[in-house]
Amino acid sequence: MRKLWLTLILTLGSLAMAQSGKLEIFSWWAGDEGPALQALIDLYKKRYPNVEVINATVTGGAGVNAKAVLKTRMLGGDPPDSFQVHAGQELIGTWVVADRMEDLTALFNREGWMTKFPKGLIDLISYKGKIYSVPVNIHRSNVMWYVPARLREWGVQPPKTWAEFLTTCQTLKNKGLAAPLALGENWTQQHLWESVALGVLGAADYANLWTGKLRFTDPKAVAVWNTFGRVLDCANRDAAGLSWQQAVDRVLEGQAAFNIMGDWAAGYMTTTKGLKPGEGFGWAPAPSTAGVFMMLSDSFGLPKGVKNRANAINWLRLVGSKEGQDTFNPLKGSIAARTDSDPSKYNTYLQSAMRDWKSNRIVGSLVHGAVAPESFMSQFATVMEIYLSSRNAQAAANAAQAIANQVRLGQ
Ligand code: GAL
Repeated sequence: MRKLWLTLILTLGSLAMAQSGKLEIFSWWAGDEGPALQALIDLYKKRYPNVEVINATVTGGAGVNAKAVLKTRMLGGDPPDSFQVHAGQELIGTWVVADRMEDLTALFNREGWMTKFPKGLIDLISYKGKIYSVPVNIHRSNVMWYVPARLREWGVQPPKTWAEFLTTCQTLKNKGLAAPLALGENWTQQHLWESVALGVLGAADYANLWTGKLRFTDPKAVAVWNTFGRVLDCANRDAAGLSWQQAVDRVLEGQAAFNIMGDWAAGYMTTTKGLKPGEGFGWAPAPSTAGVFMMLSDSFGLPKGVKNRANAINWLRLVGSKEGQDTFNPLKGSIAARTDSDPSKYNTYLQSAMRDWKSNRIVGSLVHGAVAPESFMSQFATVMEIYLSSRNAQAAANAAQAIANQVRLGQ
């Protein structure tokens, strides 16, 4: 028996050594967002020391710049060996329907993953019964961040509803805080919008927007823009020029009280800023969204015709493994996509996210690819601009509905 193990270990070892050549991973996890990916790459290098890993990143939160570069490369016949893509419509409605991705169903079966990932998540990465990417994490979109000590100084509590938020905002303004809500560039404004939409509409009607059951021009959906406008009045005027990290910094520095951002903000505050969850920063569900977890999932796929296919498959095997996920996620500020991860490796914020992920009602994020195809998402930035320049809820609602019709959202 011992001999058999030894032979197996030696064979596996020499197989890993035998892997050589390159591996190019494409993502938008640069700079402050880089440490979790780097840890995963380091693990890959440990397993396959002779493979040269090219960490190709294009800076810009939510992939605003990376997605355009990726498109050029994919259409130009120069796909990276594997790239970051959100589970859901961003993957399926774009690259899968265009027949640019390899079917990974056999890999899932071989690795025993069919029982390791939640069924709902497998559905999000599947098209016509085939699976097209490997999810590395689950992020939560609807989180409100603050610094507990500062709220105590100001004598306010984290607001539970948007109505309460607006009252708290006024209280803080009266105390001299010009912009109680820290906000960044366009995509972060859309990010705020999806939390307001979820809060105003509730989970069922929020989901109905993406299936086409609720029109953007329905009075209920128009009302979202009205609340959104009042929330915007609590934010800084220079939002367009700030990255999401700079918006978080405003909260940490006491220039603002709150920021609504996905829990990569927790990764930033713990991994980059070295803060302790619960002390250096606090969190709560975005107002009026308690009990609902707006999810998104980063995943990696295998484009057709890559240069280093075998190395890419080994990358995917690592991304989907328990060790890979429990290395990446505690640094990233996300929880594992796998259901068997080790909670002791995660901080108190992430442990609370794990509990909510299990017990809450789940809906998908618009901005981060879960519910609508890229064609809708990219044009939603324009809807946001229309609203910001006109402050006209009906005009924004009409524009959103026109795009929904054009891309046949939900059909
Ligand atoms: C999201 C992505 C996260 C994080 C964030 C900010 O779209 O899923 O992992 O990178 O953008 O850039």
